[in-house]
Amino acid sequence: MSLLFSKTTLGKLPLQNHMVMAPLTRSRATGNVPNDLMAEYYAQRAGMGLIISEGTSPSPNGLGYARIPGIYSVEQVAGWKKVTDAVHAKGARIFVQLMHTGRIGHQLNLPKGARVVGPSAVKAAGQMYTDAEGMKDHPVPEAMSEADLMATAAEYVNAATNAVKAGFDGIELHAANGYLLEQFIRPNSNTRTDQYGGSIENRARFVLEVAEATIAAIGKDKVGIRLSPFGAFNDMPLYPEMESDYGYLAEKLNALGLAYIHLVDHSSQGAPVVPDTIKATFRKVFKQTLILSGGYDAKRAEADLAAGRADLIAFGKPILANPDLVQRWKDGAPLNAPDMATFYTPGAKGYTDYPALAAQPA
Ligand SMILES: Cc1cc2nc3c(=O)[nH]c(=O)nc-3n(C[C@H](O)[C@H](O)[C@H](O)COP(=O)(O)O)c2cc1C
Repeated sequence: MSLLFSKTTLGKLPLQNHMVMAPLTRSRATGNVPNDLMAEYYAQRAGMGLIISEGTSPSPNGLGYARIPGIYSVEQVAGWKKVTDAVHAKGARIFVQLMHTGRIGHQLNLPKGARVVGPSAVKAAGQMYTDAEGMKDHPVPEAMSEADLMATAAEYVNAATNAVKAGFDGIELHAANGYLLEQFIRPNSNTRTDQYGGSIENRARFVLEVAEATIAAIGKDKVGIRLSPFGAFNDMPLYPEMESDYGYLAEKLNALGLAYIHLVDHSSQGAPVVPDTIKATFRKVFKQTLILSGGYDAKRAEADLAAGRADLIAFGKPILANPDLVQRWKDGAPLNAPDMATFYTPGAKGYTDYPALAAQPA
């Protein structure tokens, strides 16, 4: 009996199977507004139980990458409504991932008047792509003032209520992969000396406040969070207190009772190993749904579900390249390979043109 393909629930929300589409930035939202092409792309993948959207900014300041969508304007909400309608029509549920890029951005990618901000004026090593001038060094971000913190938390709340208006089943706070919320958690990017920096209680304060505020606005059953303990992406070096820091977060997030925690593991791509012990800690401490992701195929997913290591499994590249992934795995059919060259390029190529299996002859 396959667990992977069987029905389940996320809290009270029924899901048609245990398969989750991982959040995947695809940079097709020209002008930062979701469009018909994106609705088609998500609808193609709505055989999954749950879709988590690509990283979507709650603020003009969070649009660090070229052509990523937002969810702060009326126009963006209308664009997303087309996506959620198309996905729901096919039976999947969909959460929007709220991604504020923080210091991982560039002025050339931001709308007029927006600012590259972070917990502290500490620049990330490395470069990022801009449509206007190609690769550029990450800038030194502006350290956020107390007023900025309050305004940004209010932007998350606005985005959460907009998500409900746009028909999303919930939101995922992106507190992973080196973006704003993780920049607060980690001591290399957060060197503040106020109550938002220093001890883990202080470094975790902003993410927990944002979680609390969005829960107050739309309900705890509609708020999930993504974390990347031991993740090093976007200049986030490992440090000795990592495991106990994330243990603290597991406790606090459990107390908030939010819908799910979604853990990132990019070790299959050469990133640092995420110890089994930290995954086990989250499993033990957090009483709601746990989603694991990273390098899964159907077999490994089935094994981890059967062993009770997770409630749901998220898939990135397999669903990116195989709109009919569920059917292919049910049939034991081979998969299309993902084309990295078109991950972030505009237009339909490498986006909506991955072929589904040919219709079976009668
Ligand atoms: C093209 C691409 C875009 C991604 N964009 C996001 C994103 O917006 N937010 C996020 O949390 N993770 C993002 N990720 C990471 C994936 O969600 C996932 O963790 C990763 O692909 C590992 O899973 P996989 O081995 O099944 O592909 C992205 C990955 C890829 C390949």
